[in-house]
Amino acid sequence: MPTILKIQGGKPLKGTIEISGAKNSALPLMVACLLTDKPFILSNVPNLADIRTITQVLETLGVIAHEDGNTRTLNASNIISTTAPYELVKTMRASVLVLGPLLARFGHAKVSLPGGCALGARAIDVHLEGLRAMGVTCDLEEGYVIAKAPKDGLKGAHFTMRVVSVGATENLMLAASIAKGETVLQNAAREPEIIDLANCLNAMGADVQGAGTDTITIQGVDSLNGTQYKVMPDRLETGSYAMASLITGGDLTLTNTSLKYLPMVRETLEKAGAVFEELDNGFRVAQKGPIIGVDVMTEPYPGFATDLQAPFMALMSVCEGASMITETIFENRFMHVPELARMGANIQVHGASAMIRGVKNLSGAPVMATDIRAGIGMVVAALAAKGETTISRLYHLDRGYETLEAKLQACGAVVERHKAEI
Ligand code: UD1
Repeated sequence: MPTILKIQGGKPLKGTIEISGAKNSALPLMVACLLTDKPFILSNVPNLADIRTITQVLETLGVIAHEDGNTRTLNASNIISTTAPYELVKTMRASVLVLGPLLARFGHAKVSLPGGCALGARAIDVHLEGLRAMGVTCDLEEGYVIAKAPKDGLKGAHFTMRVVSVGATENLMLAASIAKGETVLQNAAREPEIIDLANCLNAMGADVQGAGTDTITIQGVDSLNGTQYKVMPDRLETGSYAMASLITGGDLTLTNTSLKYLPMVRETLEKAGAVFEELDNGFRVAQKGPIIGVDVMTEPYPGFATDLQAPFMALMSVCEGASMITETIFENRFMHVPELARMGANIQVHGASAMIRGVKNLSGAPVMATDIRAGIGMVVAALAAKGETTISRLYHLDRGYETLEAKLQACGAVVERHKAEI
């Protein structure tokens, strides 16, 4: 039964929100279980739809998965298939991350192409180019990539990525960790989730150096062990709630997280009038005076995260003055603009840039979550809007935000989930 969120806006958020483990880190970390036949234990895994999808993908391959609260035990000692089917890959693109580890450990893999995506083409060509550099042959048959490693296994390679891709960097790191010889990935993504993956692989016995810089060097090892590893905090959930605090004139303490993962977001929000207080296990964030318009361009890390562009646009829609937001990572990532306009925002889009002229108030309206991050943009806007906002297509939000309404309710938000009337 589809559900909707009803939010009565205008209540300042006050209190504490515990940040969950990072979805975008947990996904590649869970896939890393494929590299070993030993038990692999991950803690701080968020309970989200995308995590259930990757679990299903792994179970299809023969992984035995156990869930105990936020801990997942994964055992890939009895792999029965190396095919990631369309039905699962189409619902979550990160499923293609199984390609590298399956090729490295078993020498072959069949993975569906992700297909249409609301954010534009989102090809996996860079993933495949990197694997080809390691000796893999790839054919396309009936929408599937059929990939084969050389008979004597994947060969380390020096590979420069044409496009900075988080997923391709992860896929190639996973593959290279048990390939023969040295792999050097240049123009690699530098996201904190890449460092998390490198740390986990190294804990399994891999030799990955340079993660967090644009050059990652991996010396392949013969085999990897199981490990116990804790997923890093979700910096995108962190940034989203920080913006929710600011737009409502609230005062939130976010725990189990750190500002160190959000350098550009912090700088931008400070220019917009935010005040941060760093604490041992997180930080406090509140607004000082009016929200000031700030220009932003999304960029690969350490730049401003594209995944925080929608909630930031919601914040800017009630700024003093104006803000120009330029999206450089994904085409079609302004689908929240017409929804924000329904709430009274004044936004003009010109190509990859949006000009936001601040309005005094947003007003509640029925709107849609068109993807995960557009969805949280709607939530941030709704928390500040006058009156009631109804957000539909919640399955998008449920992919990325654990216990969203409980976390907001505990800080004074009036938000409820209802069954949608059809
Ligand atoms: C990851 C994140 C997602 C985030 C994105 C950018 C996960 C599970 N998801 O997605 O939340 O929005 O990084 O920070 O971690 N590209 C190509 N060819 C490729 C691969 C990518 O052209 O083979 C392009 C994409 O279309 C896009 C850009 O590169 O324009 C960045 O994509 P990428 O970094 O790969 O994003 P994901 O890993 O899918």
